Amino acid sequence: MRLPVKRTEIPGPASRALADTLRKYENPNITYISPEGDFPVFWESASGCMVIDADGNSFLDLTAAFGVAAVGHTNPRVVAAIAAQSQKLIHGMGDVHPSSLKVKLAQRIAEMTPGDLGFTIFGLNGGDAVEAAIKSARLYTGKPGIVSFRTGYHGLTFGALAATGRSDFKEPFSGQMPPFAVHVPYAEPRFCSLCAEESDSPRRNASCMVACLQFVEEALKRSDIGAVLFEPIQGRGGIVVPPDGWLTRLRQLCDAYGVLLIADEIFTGWGRTGDWFACNRENIVPDIMCIGKAMGGGFPISACVMRPAIADAWGVSTGEALHTSTFLGSPLGCAAALAAIAEMEDNDLPTRARITGDYFKAKLLELQARHPEAIIEVRGRGLMLGLRFASRTLALSLVTDLLKRGLIVLPAGPGDILEFTPPLIIETAQIDFAVQQMDSALSATCSSQA
Ligand SMILES: Cc1ncc(COP(=O)(O)O)c(C=O)c1O
Repeated sequence: MRLPVKRTEIPGPASRALADTLRKYENPNITYISPEGDFPVFWESASGCMVIDADGNSFLDLTAAFGVAAVGHTNPRVVAAIAAQSQKLIHGMGDVHPSSLKVKLAQRIAEMTPGDLGFTIFGLNGGDAVEAAIKSARLYTGKPGIVSFRTGYHGLTFGALAATGRSDFKEPFSGQMPPFAVHVPYAEPRFCSLCAEESDSPRRNASCMVACLQFVEEALKRSDIGAVLFEPIQGRGGIVVPPDGWLTRLRQLCDAYGVLLIADEIFTGWGRTGDWFACNRENIVPDIMCIGKAMGGGFPISACVMRPAIADAWGVSTGEALHTSTFLGSPLGCAAALAAIAEMEDNDLPTRARITGDYFKAKLLELQARHPEAIIEVRGRGLMLGLRFASRTLALSLVTDLLKRGLIVLPAGPGDILEFTPPLIIETAQIDFAVQQMDSALSATCSSQA
């Protein structure tokens, strides 16, 4: 089964009943349940790029479930690895008596990540990896300050949240926020006062790039700054791709001011953008790299990987790790990650993401040509793509409209962007189907508004 099949209205009766029950038992701020009852659907199973809900409807997942299912949902190799490991050792003692798999995975990560990045602190989710990176920078540089970017997203635990550039996540917790982060504009002309006049230009020019980095340089002049934390492409911020040369210049600025460069590759890493890591495109080696999401093939595991001198700044454990957790280096997580990485490597998924991404992007550009009034911009690289719509209302209404047509999509940025980050194994026929559905959804919406 490679294309969606509809068995009931969407959401169907089983999903609606589950939503009613969830309303009674889960904190109401967690799962969005629309007052109209048209969102969400409850997932029952998934395979490859397809998901089946509680009513038996199937959907094409254009999100890889937050960018995680790069090797496809329930990838057979990952499933077999988890099944085999679960017979042997589910839980170990991460920082006391670890499993042999923690050793193998740490070694594998050192082999795969750029340059001399090679000393890992494992975590369970992206936020964990960012926390470890922020602490590492403090230990190595002796400075608490971090420069990060507006509209950037690094997770919602307090350290990661302080670095995240979105006030909507922070304001409710004012008074609790650690004060170490300074936020500067990212290479997004829409939100940059220096190049606002170019806001609708789909291609940013070199002068714009320099303008954006002026803000970084200004912040680096502060004496308390030890590191710059950045996403090579902003994901949740709206699939914002910096112009060519931006990463290189950012690396140069960090070197010039003697601060660390921390790449948050939690979304962009493991092939998504067409390279193993998005930093590889400009051959830059960050001092610290945060990875997660796709790495575990669906199992929650992340890593903060650092250069040797930064690892040394932590000192050798004398029996009590400074940064650890009960489930650090979970044997199941390590087994899943080793299988997922092997699957990506054997199938050269970065190359596949590049080729399929070019195809998808070309189709999205054709779609834009058919709906120029609705689609303002096609953005992204590899299989990290986005469409920017003329309004937030239109983009958000498409999320539910496309769900009814069998497509799982997510909004991004200020809400006027739909992001497409499907499993890297998506087929061109599935992309054709998705774009046809978007085409007819847009035609229907535009004709009803006419
Ligand atoms: C770039 C980036 N960093 C960090 C995170 C946080 O990861 P998690 O939600 O696993 O904590 C995300 C999540 O979307 C992300 O996209």
